[in-house]
Amino acid sequence: MASRYDETYRRSMADPEGFWADAAGAIAWDRRWDTVLDTSRPPFARWFVGARLNTCFNALDRHVAAGRGDQAALIHDSPVTGAARAFSYRELTDTVARAAGAFRALGVGQSDRVLVYMPMIPEAVVAMLACARLGAVHSVVFGGFAPNELVKRIDDAKPKLIVSASCGLEGARAIPYKPLLDEAIRLAAIKPDHCLIKQRPQVAAALEPGRDLDWDDAVARAAPADCVPVAATDPLYILYTSGTTGVPKGVVRDNGGHAVALAWSMANVYGVAPGEVFWAASDVGWVVGHSYIVYAPLLHGCTSILYEGKPVGTPDAGAYWRLIAQHGVAALFTAPTAFRAIKREDPKGEHIGRYDLGRFRTLFLAGERADPDTVKWAEDRLRRPVIDHWWQTETGWPMGANCVGLGALPIKHGSPTKPVPGYRIEVLDEKARPVAAGQIGAIAVKLPLPPGCLPTLWHNDDGFSKSYLSDFPGYYKTGDAGFIDEDGYLFIMARTDDIINVAGHRLSTGGMEEVLASHPDVAECAVIGAADALKGQVPVGFLVLKAGVNRPHAEIVAEVVRLVRERIGPVASFCTATVVQRLPKTRSGKILRGTMVKIADGQSYTTPATIDDPVILDEITVALKGIGYPEKG
Ligand code: COA
Ligand code: AMP
Repeated sequence: MASRYDETYRRSMADPEGFWADAAGAIAWDRRWDTVLDTSRPPFARWFVGARLNTCFNALDRHVAAGRGDQAALIHDSPVTGAARAFSYRELTDTVARAAGAFRALGVGQSDRVLVYMPMIPEAVVAMLACARLGAVHSVVFGGFAPNELVKRIDDAKPKLIVSASCGLEGARAIPYKPLLDEAIRLAAIKPDHCLIKQRPQVAAALEPGRDLDWDDAVARAAPADCVPVAATDPLYILYTSGTTGVPKGVVRDNGGHAVALAWSMANVYGVAPGEVFWAASDVGWVVGHSYIVYAPLLHGCTSILYEGKPVGTPDAGAYWRLIAQHGVAALFTAPTAFRAIKREDPKGEHIGRYDLGRFRTLFLAGERADPDTVKWAEDRLRRPVIDHWWQTETGWPMGANCVGLGALPIKHGSPTKPVPGYRIEVLDEKARPVAAGQIGAIAVKLPLPPGCLPTLWHNDDGFSKSYLSDFPGYYKTGDAGFIDEDGYLFIMARTDDIINVAGHRLSTGGMEEVLASHPDVAECAVIGAADALKGQVPVGFLVLKAGVNRPHAEIVAEVVRLVRERIGPVASFCTATVVQRLPKTRSGKILRGTMVKIADGQSYTTPATIDDPVILDEITVALKGIGYPEKG
């Protein structure tokens, strides 16, 4: 089939309002919009102004009314507990309506916030959709974060209700969630009125009388709640993501633009049809989980998989193929790190042959750079298209992809192909001038952003403007650097800020430095992201100790490793640090982190002309050798 990509992209650029008004036909509206795109308050833009809808109605109720009641909406597959439970659209609608009733009985109404701190169990999806049903705003926090990170999110979002579970399962380990939640609430300035706790058989959580309620009891007792129509521009959720400091950014998603963009993406980017099975092997705590476990597949009438397992070890490197075969998955979306883990355990892909992958068409990778070796390995073993695509929490759906639904374009390894319709992507120099094809620069999106992207940060228009819109007036700054080649293909090479990507998880080295700096023996510190064969990048810390500190370095390193785990969480994978005499700096005092990364990764580097004292780079090289860098591979 000849690709319709070019004509579709051209139309989305020439007539964005017409393009997205047409796409909005896939959504059921309670009231049609007055204006498709309102840019009357630059640099802010709002989509479908004046329209009203309910996202939960669009994800569930209308599919039941249209005859999909008996189709599976959600399949929870949990290899460790042995559970593989399907919820039909009818069942999920009824459960969500009752959960919404329980939330309402606890005082949750339109625009109230509900914090969801849940493992990968159906109740997490139910809680999100129940919020959407009431017009309440959910804020899901990934389970691998420590109480301190929860505190920041509680204090910023000010939730009336927190929904959690007694434990999560990490491989065979049960991780109690409730003590972490109790600690976070103790430390937070804002206290929720109530917590609803799903008790799991593996761990029983102690409930605090008056504040905590049992999820099962509350939902069983509740009267079902109807969908509350909200403005298209009302917030659906807040998702906190790492910025350059330890203070996370509250990315806001609206209801209308989000529903339109996600529904469009399912058919046109992912090429799946209603009724097919879509599996995003991520976590509901990340944007991939929000968009492609919960909202997009349901908005499109697909069956979505909620997988509470790992790519390896639950029980083996054939786990993904078992799920694809058992549930008839048409498209899988995961992070390259998962494939590196599978490749490491099963280099010949022998597990693949044990399963019938007959209905599986396409593999999508995102979340970090897809290294060509991993992509080629997956292509060779699976004999199916492997599509690298590029996006971020802020955009909520892909900015760059090979839109297989429009007819795939030729693949270039190392590139997520071309800008997705709706995104005018340019590569800029530091003066915001577009650079020539093939030249590296800052990747930016010309405003306005298409529907689905963040309209602002939670209660922080200024922060939104400063973080994303100020450096390149008229553009949204992605924070990524790269180039566009002569054929218009995008290449995403690196971040331009302190964000690193560890096993597909976005983390701030600035946030980790704040933790290291709080250690009483540390005078100065730096954290860099070093290349890692499995996780893509891992953080490595450098500590300069205060004068007179003469405790064993290994002790201090162990303490800072523990501190990062306690304050940020295990997900940071902060395991390695080294003590150095000095940090390499420019004469104006800026730490040369980029040069340190090159040394850690074994790349050649030129000594920066502005360096204060070049000898320090030799000291850093020796220190890194002492902790095993450059990695052997
Ligand atoms: N709740 C509690 N703890 C969690 C957690 C959660 N939801 N998710 C991760 N953790 C913990 C892990 O148990 C681990 O703890 P440990 O240091 O005690 O072992 C730590 O955080 C680091 O986790 P992770 O980076 O996931 O490493 P891993 O060694 O457990 O697994 C992979 C490595 C590659 C198998 C794993 O990262 C993976 O499956 N990645 C898939 C990619 C993905 O889902 N990306 C999301 C964006 S698309
Ligand atoms: P997150 O907000 O967690 O989704 O992380 C977004 C960041 O991950 C992007 O800004 C990129 O730096 C990186 N990223 C995501 N997808 C890709 C990709 N396909 N190629 C390269 N980097 C990617």
